[in-house]
Amino acid sequence: MENDLSYHVEEAARAEEEVSVLKAYVEDIKRKVSDMVVEANTDNAELNKLITENTKLKHRLAILSIAIAEEQMQSKPTISDSSKMESITDILHQLFHTAICAAFPDITDPPVVIAVAASNPKFGDYQCNSAMPIANIYKQSGKKVTPRNLAQKILDNLPSHPMVEKCEIAGPGFINIFLNRDYAVKKLQAIFQNGVQPPTVERKKIIIDFSSPNIAKEMHVGHLRSTIIGETIARLLEFLNFEVHRINHIGDWGTQFGMLIAHLQDRFPDHLEKMPPISDLQSFYKEAKERFDEDEEFKKRAYDSVVKLQSFEPKHIKAWKLICDVSRKEFQKIYDRLDITLKERGESFYQTRTEKIVKELEEAGFLENDDGRKIMWGDESTTVPFTIVKSDGGFTYDSSDMAAIKHRLQEEKADWVIYVVDSGQATHFQILFACAKKAGILDPKKHRVDFVGFGVVLGEDKKKFKTRSGDSIRLVDLLDKGLEKALDKLKEKGRDKVR
Ligand code: ARG
Repeated sequence: MENDLSYHVEEAARAEEEVSVLKAYVEDIKRKVSDMVVEANTDNAELNKLITENTKLKHRLAILSIAIAEEQMQSKPTISDSSKMESITDILHQLFHTAICAAFPDITDPPVVIAVAASNPKFGDYQCNSAMPIANIYKQSGKKVTPRNLAQKILDNLPSHPMVEKCEIAGPGFINIFLNRDYAVKKLQAIFQNGVQPPTVERKKIIIDFSSPNIAKEMHVGHLRSTIIGETIARLLEFLNFEVHRINHIGDWGTQFGMLIAHLQDRFPDHLEKMPPISDLQSFYKEAKERFDEDEEFKKRAYDSVVKLQSFEPKHIKAWKLICDVSRKEFQKIYDRLDITLKERGESFYQTRTEKIVKELEEAGFLENDDGRKIMWGDESTTVPFTIVKSDGGFTYDSSDMAAIKHRLQEEKADWVIYVVDSGQATHFQILFACAKKAGILDPKKHRVDFVGFGVVLGEDKKKFKTRSGDSIRLVDLLDKGLEKALDKLKEKGRDKVR
């Protein structure tokens, strides 16, 4: 079977090569013919010879196209060796596209119209209704043809396929397609045996950036949405046999860590030896923030800590890790509850890469000075620029996303990157994609990127729900409450065996 397949694949490749040579030849002749016409038919004998040659070549081309289509159909796994699902309309479309292109090589992009037949079995299972619009195209260019004749020409060029039993021309030029019953029965049997199987797709590497909560903040209910939607997309794409990587782009870097570390040093001087007993990182954050706003000396120390952290000073890195661990443990409870495993690659992961990309963007002349900030504009579709470097020299959410997209597309060689983030960030991602294209990181011919936005979660005040409002809902409690409610409902219905 395998030998057979590779033979067909080779044959198809050979035939394809021949077709492209012939095509180039036909083009050349066409050019010569038109040159000669311009020269006012000076040499009629030569012209006629070329026209005949052209027609012959077109005919050979058509025959070869059919042969290729047949080879390709054969080299695809058939019902006997695969339980993969096929699409009837896709197959019919492919077959009739080949036939129509071969029958009417003078029409560019001819219409291929496939429809499900009317309920009367007399008219077959499907129909190809292309003859009428093709007749119209000819009529417009002054050629008289009847759709019935055109339909016959389509059938003369139709490659054979085990799915198609027979075709009949009906009425003004409809082609009724009758499917082979045995073929359909075998397909159905395969479904009953193996269940619904995904269609064959080209295996691509996909990175899905989802969940992505922020350290020292409670996981927001919006992050829960991203987690569930992202995981759903991941499972669906995995079912289709894509190579899926789940990435958790957590917010684990930034100036807020300066004040958290300074506060940690004050509250738990022995934190480097003993794990500090912080259970509620959010109130810890609030305390730190209050001191930061009120105490100048503390503020100064917080800034110093940021500088030390960003230069990877070991004690500061250790303190930062401790803080991240507290949040991480909280997030993990939710991931465990939902049975989700993500690879953590927070903003901190991209730090050295961010330094590099900022330099590259600068050297390539993409950065503009804007009142001390370094900004980068996307394209006409974007009206706000990215802030690549802040006026104090620090990096931003924008710059680390530039580093991340480069890492994903160029180092990780992903074919497709999907970001599942609330719609409030739609503009951010529009600018990200535009800037990445401009910088030559994202090649639309090779890569696919998608922003999958979802509704922003609003608080009772109808404003965007903020984690730091102080009275945020704990997601774990929310999940527990949801579970309790569901159980209560079941119990009410008398199913008290449910525990
Ligand atoms: N941490 C961000 C937030 O909570 C979401 C990150 C989304 N992913 C990204 N690559 N920007 O808003």
